[in-house]
Amino acid sequence: MTEAAIADPAFETDRLNGRPIALDDVPRIQSLHHDPRVAEHIGGDWTDDRTHQFVKGAVEHWERYGYGQWVLTLKEGGQFAGRSGLRHYYMDGQDEIELLYAIDTSLWGQGYGTEAARAIVNWGFSQHGFASIVSFTLPDNPGSRRVMEKAGLTFEKEMLRLEPPEFLVHRITREEWAAR
Ligand SMILES: CC(C)(COP(=O)(O)OP(=O)(O)OC[C@H]1O[C@@H](n2cnc3c(N)ncnc32)[C@H](O)[C@@H]1OP(=O)(O)O)[C@@H](O)C(=O)NCCC(=O)NCCS
Repeated sequence: MTEAAIADPAFETDRLNGRPIALDDVPRIQSLHHDPRVAEHIGGDWTDDRTHQFVKGAVEHWERYGYGQWVLTLKEGGQFAGRSGLRHYYMDGQDEIELLYAIDTSLWGQGYGTEAARAIVNWGFSQHGFASIVSFTLPDNPGSRRVMEKAGLTFEKEMLRLEPPEFLVHRITREEWAAR
């Protein structure tokens, strides 16, 4: 595995602290993934082993690419708030940077998803100078779609991953981000 220099991984917003995901986050991420209201939007059926592999892959992703997912906590009180970040994705023969997020259901509807997504988009362009950032959602996830829009991504196309339904692909380019 090649090791990339990790750009400054510090991450904070008005109300959130973030730190790169670590192996000892498995129990936190498991409780997030086990919540049926989260699971239904991120592929469902999250066994303990699947979550463990997910976290392990996310830790290795930071080492390999120098960017990745953060564990989010509330600045006030320190409550675990979810995970969000960036992941390498290969689409249509091209390297892409995918924006991801999942917020603890106890905190939904208070702007945390948007706050994290906006800060991570800023971090990606300012720290890494990515050409663009994409995000994927199923059509029956209006909350996710709205977070993408509020972070500056706009609808690009529909995309079949393995089987129907098609995912909605949203994107923001570096130029669009710089012009905001
Ligand atoms: C999607 C998700 C991250 C949103 O987090 P959140 O902190 O509740 O989002 P925000 O409070 O920032 O809300 C963002 C916008 O989405 C809207 N929204 C949130 N949930 C919604 C829902 N279920 N239906 C319609 N709109 C919704 C909010 O009203 C807000 O829009 P507004 O400012 O125009 O009113 C959260 O619901 C989640 O973790 N879902 C499960 C995981 C997931 O779907 N991840 C993405 C996979 S593609």
